[in-house]
Amino acid sequence: MTEDLVYIGMSADLIHPGHLNIIRKGRELGRVVIGLLTDEAIAGYKRVPLLSFEQRSAIVSGLRDVSEVVPQSTLDYSANLRALRPRYVVHGDDWRSGVQSATRARVIEVLSEWGGELVEVPYTQGISSTAIQQSLREIGVTPENRRKRLGRLLSVKPILRVLEAHNGLSAMIVEGSTATDANGRPVEFDGIWLSSLTDSTAKGKPDIEAVDFTSRLQTVNEILEVTTKPIIFDGDTGGRIDQFPFMVRTLERLGVSAIIIEDKVGAKRNSLLEESSVHEQDSIVDFCEKIRAGNNSRVTADFRIIARIESLILGKGMEDAWQRSEAYVAAGAGGIMIHSKESSGADVLEFAKRFRPAHPDVPLIAVPSTYPTVSIGTLQEAGFSLVIYANHLLRSAYPAMQRTAQRLLVEGMAAGAEEDLISIKNLFKLIPGQ
Ligand code: SPV
Ligand code: MG
Repeated sequence: MTEDLVYIGMSADLIHPGHLNIIRKGRELGRVVIGLLTDEAIAGYKRVPLLSFEQRSAIVSGLRDVSEVVPQSTLDYSANLRALRPRYVVHGDDWRSGVQSATRARVIEVLSEWGGELVEVPYTQGISSTAIQQSLREIGVTPENRRKRLGRLLSVKPILRVLEAHNGLSAMIVEGSTATDANGRPVEFDGIWLSSLTDSTAKGKPDIEAVDFTSRLQTVNEILEVTTKPIIFDGDTGGRIDQFPFMVRTLERLGVSAIIIEDKVGAKRNSLLEESSVHEQDSIVDFCEKIRAGNNSRVTADFRIIARIESLILGKGMEDAWQRSEAYVAAGAGGIMIHSKESSGADVLEFAKRFRPAHPDVPLIAVPSTYPTVSIGTLQEAGFSLVIYANHLLRSAYPAMQRTAQRLLVEGMAAGAEEDLISIKNLFKLIPGQ
């Protein structure tokens, strides 16, 4: 007698007794085929897995009760179920509510086409891969793992969200913020932008490289200590070509994933200043040389030198931006950031639509500071792979602090201002080890 086919969909990133319980139940019913969710499928509804598909597949294939492993490339089971027509699907009963409840309904519907059955196993309390991931986060991350993480996220998520931080506390907000987007999917920030503008502003200094690299590194270290997410460092112009390799080496060693350098020379001024005549753009030849110098000084290929094109900021036009992107990619740039201070975002969208088909695997970055009405969905559709919200936490903190200062002066007591403040009790809870 041939055994009944039992299909079990899982991510199996961190195998725990809950998984084994489900697989054991499956084996009682027949021959177990695991539908192993691909990295992309998992990233669509929860965190990017720690282990790659190949690693997870190797682990699951080795389990005694598993006969076969097949990839499941969407959260939805339908395609695999119709191809395999299993007698049973086994799953933990925790998916009756939450993000997976619609998937469950579809499984029941599809199984009914040939009289298949869904068998649910009581959820193993107190253990889940999400809880284990959280504990791992509390333990921390090595510089190497953090550095690699950006590349891994880029390869499995359609678009990444990166938010500026300028000290430990703001970085903790980037690290810990989670929400549900308009489509009901969980969202979080994928990395931290070490902005020169906000790092300088937080120190009360102008964004003119007056805060030197050593001081910037202090901020990096402060942030590294209290977070695990990847860091992208705003390297301004990268300095002189003979200095740039030292910057690269230091950041790479610390576990930073990328440095973005802008194609300008001379006295650095912020790109969003109204007066653009203060900027001088680097020549293509010299900037390519700097990209190569950066790449040659890396120890690992995980660290990226990302080239930032200022042509649109400087009114040099789309063709100049395009020519530069071609040259910078050829010189080995690990990504392109196309900057603009236009308010509609039309120029960067146009650029992306041309860039993406030409370079399907090169990350493209947008910084929607002056075009805030352009959504992440629109940027993704145009071909962007990463969005940097470059100054938003600092800009939200400033008016809040100013309002409090005003109220204390005007009202002569703190009671009114208290309305907007975190309580001292919660402040203690915020930072572990108090
Ligand atoms: C920064 O955040 O410091 C940047 C982006 O470089 S911008 O301010 O738009 O130039
Ligand atoms: Mg900057």
